[in-house]
Amino acid sequence: MYRAPRGTVDILPAEQAYWAHVQARAAEVCRLYGYERLDTPVFEDYGLFARSSADGTDLVEKEMYVFEDRSGQKLTLRAENTAPICRAYVEHGMASLPQPVRLYYLGPTFRYERPQAGRYRQHHQFGCEALGDASASLDVEVIELALRFLSSLGLQQLSILLNSIGCRQCQPHYVDLLRSHYESLAVPVCSDCRVRMVRNPLRLLDCKEPACRTVVDEAPRISEHLCPDCEIHFRDVQEQLTLLGIPYALNHKLVRGLDYYTRTVFEILPQRQGGQSAIAGGGRYDELIEQIGGRPTPGVGFATGLERIILNLKEQGITVSSPAAPAVYIAFRGDAARRAAVLVSRELRDSHIGIITSTGDRSLKAQLRHANALGVRYAVILGDDEVERGEAVVRDMSANAQVAVPQASLAAYLREE
Ligand code: HAM
Repeated sequence: MYRAPRGTVDILPAEQAYWAHVQARAAEVCRLYGYERLDTPVFEDYGLFARSSADGTDLVEKEMYVFEDRSGQKLTLRAENTAPICRAYVEHGMASLPQPVRLYYLGPTFRYERPQAGRYRQHHQFGCEALGDASASLDVEVIELALRFLSSLGLQQLSILLNSIGCRQCQPHYVDLLRSHYESLAVPVCSDCRVRMVRNPLRLLDCKEPACRTVVDEAPRISEHLCPDCEIHFRDVQEQLTLLGIPYALNHKLVRGLDYYTRTVFEILPQRQGGQSAIAGGGRYDELIEQIGGRPTPGVGFATGLERIILNLKEQGITVSSPAAPAVYIAFRGDAARRAAVLVSRELRDSHIGIITSTGDRSLKAQLRHANALGVRYAVILGDDEVERGEAVVRDMSANAQVAVPQASLAAYLREE
């Protein structure tokens, strides 16, 4: 028996209403802010991710699906969407468009992670990226957009965590301070943190080990070591959030799992909080486009995981109405009626009426039971006699009443009903 690969799920018909709803809200909120959709391929050159998320991040070292195609090209299933969007921006010369260029995406994303509730090996991201403008107001715009999207779905009690991790100027100085703090410790930190000290010191702040948490609490705070420009930028972001009445909590430990961030980073947490609870995350990445070979171009954005959003919608008891099932079932008895059923079905669909046509050799009784089980409103019954008279019997399944209707006026009759 084959099963869906570990960490992946089938999105069954009963789930589709949630997906359609969330995707429609995403498109609507992007319209409100002028973000246009851009779809990138699900696989990219390995180098794009390796260069954009430096060595030492879990994403590059442990989580990417990497493979060679038949020509020997090293490819990666996209592990996130910001680098591909930036690649597309450079590749299609979008720097010559009016800036900033506002883009959004929606699609599957792949990470080889340990699966658990809300964490999958294939998940779907909706995200936005604003490229070509370094203003703090754009950081605020994407935070507000993300929040508006999540709130419009009915999610309650969302909290925003905010931090600034500085830039090329101030971050190295802070990293030195952080390293010195760790080197001066009497008690050893966990083995992962010992590696982080060498390879990716900012990630020390993100360690979940209880012993390391205490060390982090006492570590120097990056927000107290920002250069003047980063400080002004961070203050602007906070002032504008306050102006918009968007509550946020400063969190000096927030560094994010990807390596390309500069200045603002943020996460949005839902009511339920746990290890995998962030439903959205993002920030500014003013050096990323240059890192992947473009001209220096600032950018800011966020992504949300649709699976986590739907999980939270269900947990908060938020239901979504399913699209209406076809209202009409076509049943038949006899060979002439079987042929007529095909033609009548086509005509009714031409009139935009949803139809389920019976198949096979079931008895009429079995066909009506089938119609009942599907929950359709009407059964159109064709027997050879009706066909000869150019009629059909329309049966109201819930009222258990039926009338004969000329086939020529069937569409009009059903629409009226
Ligand atoms: P990220 O925080 O790695 O950021 O992922 C964004 C969101 O995707 C998370 O908040 C979470 O909801 C969802 N997510 C991530 N991994 C999984 C998983 N294994 N299973 C289910 N959901 C998951 C990024 O990917 C950045 N590219 C965001 C960004 C855009 N930054 C700037 N622009």
